[in-house]
Amino acid sequence: MQRHIHFIAAALLALASAAHAQTATDTANAPLYQALGEKPGITVLMDDFVDRLKANARIGKMFDDIKPAYLKEQLTDQICELSGGPCKYEGEEMKKSHEKLGIDKSQFNLLVEILQKTLDAHNIPFTTQNQLLAKLAPMHREIITAH
Ligand code: HEM
Repeated sequence: MQRHIHFIAAALLALASAAHAQTATDTANAPLYQALGEKPGITVLMDDFVDRLKANARIGKMFDDIKPAYLKEQLTDQICELSGGPCKYEGEEMKKSHEKLGIDKSQFNLLVEILQKTLDAHNIPFTTQNQLLAKLAPMHREIITAH
């Protein structure tokens, strides 16, 4: 399990450092949206994901000030849109919403591990997981502000 997580973290960083500009919406990518169970599936995933984040001993407290229902809704729209679904993310920009939090690489990787565990728990196939993580990885540039 640990090896698996390390592989993902390494893969994420590799993907993140490949300097390919990526637009938020990719309509050629609709299979990813389907593989995640479309909007109802993504809603269930984000519900569980945010609960797991809040329950985490290391980063859970960071989420005390944001309404869980709001965060779940924003994450659902964001992942729906970037997986090729018919949603429009209307939340804060990633830089703005994270810059005051002083997030470091290990916290970012921990969130990714928690997301992976969530996807595993809902039997999302490994290839689908990697496709989603590849979409999220470049966001580390906006989110990580501490070293
Ligand atoms: C790819 C990774 C991430 C994504 C896609 C993501 C996405 C989001 C979204 C959509 C919001 C809501 C923005 C809004 O207010 O409209 C948010 C807020 C937040 N995120 Fe992240 N996030 C990521 C990484 C992280 C990490 C690593 C942490 C901390 C360890 C974190 C902590 C928070 C917190 C505390 C808020 C609430 C900020 C506030 O009070 O307004 N996020 N994130």
